[in-house]
Formats: sequence, structure tokens, C-alpha cells
Amino acid sequence: MRYIIKLSGSILDSKGNLDELGKILNELKIVAKNENKIGLVIGGGRRSREFIEAGRTFDLTESELDKIGIALTRINAMIVIGALYGLAYPRVVTDFEDAALAWNEQKIPVMGGLTPGHSTNAVAAMLAEYTRADLLINATKAGGVFDRDPTKFPDASMLESVSVTDLKKIIGSSFQAGKYELMDEVALGIIERSKIRTKIIGTDAASLRKALKGEKTGTYIVFE
Ligand code: UTP
Repeated sequence: MRYIIKLSGSILDSKGNLDELGKILNELKIVAKNENKIGLVIGGGRRSREFIEAGRTFDLTESELDKIGIALTRINAMIVIGALYGLAYPRVVTDFEDAALAWNEQKIPVMGGLTPGHSTNAVAAMLAEYTRADLLINATKAGGVFDRDPTKFPDASMLESVSVTDLKKIIGSSFQAGKYELMDEVALGIIERSKIRTKIIGTDAASLRKALKGEKTGTYIVFE
């Protein structure tokens, strides 16, 4: 099986999250040994937003700010590459062909951001499309898609599945550096056009294990 996994950059934000990242990478090491192919895309997390906000103070353009975000995602990717001790392709992968070449060398390609105008979710969707992945997993703090905003409604419940159309309505369209939501429109467009099997899950090793085993966790994106 071919899995593309987007890890929210929040996984590198704090000591507790880094411990969980260690567990996630251990899961991946096991999965990668069993003839499976894994591609990783790492987000920018809190630090990317802090740097973007600093730049915004001086009126940098949105694409300048996006490029700052991209730089931070790549720094996070470097940490993950090091933490995978030789299992990962040693350089941060910056194009999809190199991701495929990494697989040829039995290495895990680790990407960060690519170009301004979208989030790392879009990069992960493009990588999943390019590599004909069996499953795209988006591990994000929200852990899935809810019927109502869980920050405002404590009784909100997580949906087992959501249609692309409904998800588009839920996320709206925020196109500012550092402010791309759960899934940005570019990511959803790619997922929709190629009907990529996609699951949104939490940023913990237990959820990832379940997603990789096809067990119930998070929210599937479905197509009408
Ligand atoms: P992300 O918003 O994808 O990081 O990238 P994240 O931490 O994973 O976000 P969550 O946790 O999933 O919400 C950080 C910033 O880098 C820029 C954008 O400004 C983005 O907000 N970026 C990233 C790009 O401009 N292009 C890319 O291809 C990727």
C-alpha cells in the first residue's frame, strides 16, 4: 500500500507533542518495513505562524509571508528526517519526481511546503495524486470534521464521513499566509478531481495506527 501522510506542524510545537511525534515515527518505521510505501509532508506549526506574523508587521506581501512559512515547514521536515535515522531520504524533498526516486531507493520522502498560495495539505494531496496513493492521511489537531464548531459547541460530534461539497462549505476560503484551514481549497480541488481516498485524523500515534489498519478513527472525505 502507498500512504501519504500529512503531519500538522503542531506536532513539533511543544515537548509533549514531540514525544507523540516519536511514537508516530515508530509506527511509521514498522509500517514502512512491510512492503508499504510512505511519503510524509510536514507542516509549519506555531513557529511558522509566529514568523509570518512578524513579517506581517512590516507589510511583507502574502507570497513573501508564504515563503517564510515554507522555510519553517522545511526546517520541521529536517527534524523528522533526522529522527527517522536513515529511513528517510536525507534531503528535504522539493519535487514529486524526487519523492518517487526516494521510493525507488527504499527511503521515505519527507516534504515541507512547495510554493506560495496554498498549505502543506495541498502538497500532500498533490503528492498523493502524483504517486497514485491508496490513502491520504491528514493528521491535524482537530482530529476530524465535526457537525458544528467544537470550540463553540461542546456537544459537537465528529462525522465519520463528509462530502467534498460539505467540507468546502465548512472550511470557507481563507487564502492568507499562515491561515489556511483544516484543508485549503487547493487541497480539496486535487482530492476531488482525482477522487483520492482521504482521511482526516488526530495527531497521535494511536489514531494513525487505526487509520493505517483501516479501523474507525477520524473522518473520511467522500465523493458524491
Ligand atoms: P501549513 O499551514 O501547511 O502548516 O504551512 P501546518 O502547521 O501544518 O498547519 P496546520 O497545523 O495543518 O493547520 C505553514 C505556512 O507555510 C505556507 C503557508 O503560509 C502556510 O500557512 N505554505 C506552506 C505555502 O505557502 N506553501 C506551501 O506549499 C506550504
